[in-house]
Amino acid sequence: LLSTSNSRHLIGQLVLLGDSGVGKSCIVLRFVRGQFDPTSKVTVGASFLSQTIALQDSTTVKFEIWDTAGQERYAALAPLYYRGAAVAVVVYDITSPDSFAKAQYWVKELQKHGSPDIIMALVGNKADLHEKREVSVQDGIECAEKNGMFFIETSAKTADNINQLFEEIAKRLP
Ligand code: GTP
Ligand code: MG
Repeated sequence: LLSTSNSRHLIGQLVLLGDSGVGKSCIVLRFVRGQFDPTSKVTVGASFLSQTIALQDSTTVKFEIWDTAGQERYAALAPLYYRGAAVAVVVYDITSPDSFAKAQYWVKELQKHGSPDIIMALVGNKADLHEKREVSVQDGIECAEKNGMFFIETSAKTADNINQLFEEIAKRLP
């Protein structure tokens, strides 16, 4: 019963970074609990959650997720969470060019101070608000390509692409 036969069990230490209000906590809540909270409160410091997923090839991946606080006053804490991380998910809000600029700041920060083999994903969240879109899909793709990142647009509200985000990351784990 203890035999794991030909299955593979991986652990993915993952950190979410991005401006306050882009939807980091909602993405995690959607992924871990299948819920959406329209009155989600700002994160203080950081919060930790974990979730295990199974891939097609019988690999299981346990994600250990640090959901960081995006408010400026917590920016100095971020290195505590991204330093040991195997995966960094940088999130912006497709209705906010400021949050896209902030995402590019986090990418640079990760390139300077993150682990050299860190897997990075760029996520344009709130894709359900397409009528308010101010950051084009093309801008997201270009930024991701330039920085060797995986790119996806998500909606924590509708659940669009949330599982796909984590599955794509899982496939990229060594
Ligand atoms: P900090 O904890 O301050 O860093 O913010 P955060 O990035 O964790 O933002 P949070 O997840 O708390 O979401 C902020 C607001 O955006 C909340 O009102 C959410 O309900 C809303 N929100 C999050 N994701 C989506 C989404 O995909 N679509 C829409 N329409 N609203 C969203
Ligand atoms: Mg939060």
